[in-house]
Amino acid sequence: MSTSNPIHETVREHYAERIKSSASCCGPDNCCDTSNRLYPIDLLTTVPTDVASTSYGCGDPITLASLKPGQTVLDLGSGAGLDCLLAAQKVGPEGRVIGVDMTPEMIERAQANAKRVNAANVEFRQGYLEDLPVDSNTVDVIISNCVINLSPDKAKVFTEAFRVLAPGGKLAVSDIVTDGVLPEAVRNSLSAWAGCVAGAVEAKDYIGMMETVGFTDISITPVFFDKQTVDSALDEMKLDVKDYPREAVYKAVYSAKITAHKPI
Ligand SMILES: C[S@@+](CC[C@H](N)C(=O)[O-])C[C@H]1O[C@@H](n2cnc3c(N)ncnc32)[C@H](O)[C@@H]1O
Repeated sequence: MSTSNPIHETVREHYAERIKSSASCCGPDNCCDTSNRLYPIDLLTTVPTDVASTSYGCGDPITLASLKPGQTVLDLGSGAGLDCLLAAQKVGPEGRVIGVDMTPEMIERAQANAKRVNAANVEFRQGYLEDLPVDSNTVDVIISNCVINLSPDKAKVFTEAFRVLAPGGKLAVSDIVTDGVLPEAVRNSLSAWAGCVAGAVEAKDYIGMMETVGFTDISITPVFFDKQTVDSALDEMKLDVKDYPREAVYKAVYSAKITAHKPI
């Protein structure tokens, strides 16, 4: 399964490598925190420690989503499955959770993790966010953690998200957005794209794309990274560009809590 898009290829190779080495995506102290300070501790202790620490996210979409028993949840870019397993507990046996990811190595790890914790209401499907392998109008809540920024066609991702949500459905995602434009050298770097920086768009453009496909009640709340966090992330990414103005990256990039609804 592949597309001819070089961004898909680069991102898939990056995350296949990360999960094979079980390293975090960006660095020890940032969005992809292996000790995982992104979630409340009582949420994380419900899964094995190594599952809890295999996170490549930049926030806590589970708390943001306020999931209820019986709901159907879709996780866009489910990675090793942490958010799906946490969501599965929230929706209970009457609910179900579907994780979609394009990287086979991630799907394999997520399936193994679900088996380990006997999560019978979770399934993982290999596929693209831009062409979701999910029926229209069937999902109550879409969650996602640090993934939409990686897509080369975010407008298509929002079109697909809107299609699969049931009327009245909710989108609750953590993602990276920017305030202002990133330095050109960073924007053009494929390694910076795979590291969740170069693909991030301005918050106003993110909102614009969601509005265009029909989402309403859109809210973006910043969760800023400190300078040291961004620094270690940029070091870890080993960007294929040198001598770019780091200050411009510190100022522009932030993690955000994003919510929206599909009208009834
Ligand atoms: C930064 S990791 C986040 C994984 C997971 N959400 C987490 O919090 O640990 C990004 C994940 O999204 C997947 N991904 C990136 N772009 C994708 C796309 N266009 N379609 C499907 N999966 C994608 C990658 O394979 C990777 O597993």
